[in-house]
Amino acid sequence: MTAQSYIFHLADEAATLALAALFAPHLRHGAVVYLQGDLGAGKTTFSRGLLQAMGHHGNVKSPTYTLVEPYTIAEQQVFHFDLYRLRDPEELEFMGIRDYFSKGNLCLIEWPERGYGLLADADLDLQLQIDQNQRQLCVTANQPDAVLWLNAIKLAWEQAQ
Ligand SMILES: Nc1ncnc2c1ncn2[C@@H]1O[C@H](COP(=O)(O)OP(=O)(O)OP(=O)(O)O)[C@@H](O)[C@H]1O
Ligand SMILES: [Mg+2]
Repeated sequence: MTAQSYIFHLADEAATLALAALFAPHLRHGAVVYLQGDLGAGKTTFSRGLLQAMGHHGNVKSPTYTLVEPYTIAEQQVFHFDLYRLRDPEELEFMGIRDYFSKGNLCLIEWPERGYGLLADADLDLQLQIDQNQRQLCVTANQPDAVLWLNAIKLAWEQAQ
C-alpha cells in the first residue's frame, strides 16, 4: 500500500488546535505519531490541542528535559516525547523505549529524527512548516487505518472551513 499525504493550511494557533482536535477520535486505540518541523513550528501546540480534545484538562508542558511526559486520559495511555535534547540514542534504550510502543498506547514524538532506528514506525507523519506568520502541515498516513483517519479528518476540516 502506498502512503497518502495531505497538506493543511493553518492560519493561526487556533487553527492548529482545531485541526489537532479532529485527530482525537481516531487515535483512541493507540497510534504512533511523529511530529517534525523546525523549532517553534507548532509540534507542541498540536500535541496540546490533541491532548485537550481527548479530555486532558490542564497544561501540556514540553517534555524537553524529561524526554517524555505520560498522560492517562479516559483510560488511554498517552506518551508525549520531545527528543530534541537526546544526546545519545542509547538513552532511549535505558528508558525502556520499546515498552512505550505497546499496542493501545498513543505515542506523540517530537524530533523523532533524533531517535532514528530505535522508535516504532509512525502510523502518521506530521511535518510542520513555518510559512511567514502561518503554518503548513503535511500529514502522511503510512498504513491503511491511518489513511481512513486522514480522509475523515480531511473531510471534517473542509466542512469546517
Ligand atoms: N498555525 C499557526 N500559525 C501561526 N503561529 C502558530 C500556529 N500554530 C502555532 N503557532 C505558534 O507557533 C509557536 C509554536 O510553538 P511550539 O512550542 O508549539 O513549537 P514546537 O514545534 O513544539 O517547537 P520545539 O521544537 O521548540 O519543541 C507558538 O508560539 C504558537 O502560538
Ligand atoms: Mg515542542
